[in-house]
Amino acid sequence: MAKDKVSIHGAWASRWVFILAATGSAVGLGNIWKFPYMTGVYGGGAFVAMYLLCIALVGLPIMLAETLIGRRGRQSPVNAMKALAVEAGASRHWSLAALIGMVAALLILSFYSVVAGWSLDYIVGMGRGAFGGITAEGAGAAFGGLTDDPWRLTLWHTLFMVLTAVVIGRGVVAGLERSLRIMMPLLFGLLVVLLGYSLTTGYFMQGFDFLFHFDPDKVRGGILAAMGHAFFTLSVGVGSIMVYGAYMPKNASIGGTVLAVGLLDTLVALTAGLALFPIVFAAGLEPGGGPGLMFVTLPIAFGNVAFGQAMGLVFFVLVAVAAWSSSISMLEPAVAYFVERTGRSRAQVTSVLALLCWLVGMGTVLSFNVGAEAKFFVFGDDGFHLFQWGAEGGRNFFDSVDYLTSRILLPLGGLAFVLFAGWVLGREAVRDELSMRYPRLFTLVFWLIRIVAPLGVLIVFVAELTK
Ligand code: PHE
Repeated sequence: MAKDKVSIHGAWASRWVFILAATGSAVGLGNIWKFPYMTGVYGGGAFVAMYLLCIALVGLPIMLAETLIGRRGRQSPVNAMKALAVEAGASRHWSLAALIGMVAALLILSFYSVVAGWSLDYIVGMGRGAFGGITAEGAGAAFGGLTDDPWRLTLWHTLFMVLTAVVIGRGVVAGLERSLRIMMPLLFGLLVVLLGYSLTTGYFMQGFDFLFHFDPDKVRGGILAAMGHAFFTLSVGVGSIMVYGAYMPKNASIGGTVLAVGLLDTLVALTAGLALFPIVFAAGLEPGGGPGLMFVTLPIAFGNVAFGQAMGLVFFVLVAVAAWSSSISMLEPAVAYFVERTGRSRAQVTSVLALLCWLVGMGTVLSFNVGAEAKFFVFGDDGFHLFQWGAEGGRNFFDSVDYLTSRILLPLGGLAFVLFAGWVLGREAVRDELSMRYPRLFTLVFWLIRIVAPLGVLIVFVAELTK
């Protein structure tokens, strides 16, 4: 029986380690860096409301689906889906979804590593005391100085990619487990300290309003962005959670576990937003400032409080660690797959894949400076261009990879996973994996997986197309 298989890559000691690993994967730059800046770009409360709705109705059911597919298949996502599809008498081409997800995860890693590299640079800056008493202009200039310099970006990008490869090359995250147990609560603690600081700025309510004031007119503008971000922040739609599920003990309950991971992830994002926006308003900055938001606002806060630089140092270390525990989960699905497929050593497979991601990441490095004019997906007056140098509209390389993965590949991947669980594996298999105590609750959850989550993804896509 499929359920008795064991993965060749290893297994978690208990479901706690799964929670730790999945939370480590989910909580990352998406929560602390991306969520606040996207909320800023898409106008605040309406975006937050859509995001929360997508987490509850679409993100969590998909996370459940991924976890149970992984645990039942006990292999890399591609091979797990292939085996389970064949077992269920369905087409083995279902595994294509996992293949595309795997590629999406590698693409995300390519730019994630660059941004995580920024936090490494800021660790050094805070350590040197470069941000003491800094003004809003000074903080903006410091961030600009970093992104303008391709060599500095390359250095940190390279270092971060090596860190990621080292952990994955060594095998299933045992080394990280112990540090994560300390690091994650510490990260949360520091976020609360930051929240405390933002309360003293006198702009807390303005920040709060910005996050939670619901303006229905703004819903249409950011609905796909909100759904894409819900996938991104939960790490679903690419197979990262699926591969972690493959290492989960059979007797562990999936439902409560997944819920815990989702709640923690949401809590960290909201806390980060509540901590950052008051500082943005107090400093007279624009909330819609884009990807630099966190890297400009945090130094202002840390540069202007007692012991701020030391706190800032610790904070950026934790951001880097949170990013690190996420980045490894982007590499794992592909590493597991190619180890199974080629029989080569984990170290070899990891090196090759990390190098590939590093190369693609160089496109992101350059998109902030010398390559800023290289535009992709340009809808100009003279029609569509896939690539155009110096075009007015369009997206630079970083934006393009982010757009392609978060808005398109993640939702499609998630849709395929949840359809697979709900319709191909079917009720009995899902019941067997979830083994829930209350039949009514199971009916509700199964209905979410089978109908609500897939419909949710489709509705958002249609809403976006007809905008
Ligand atoms: N969830 C991670 C974050 O919020 C990003 C991630 C996406 C990780 C996809 C794994 C897979 O930072």
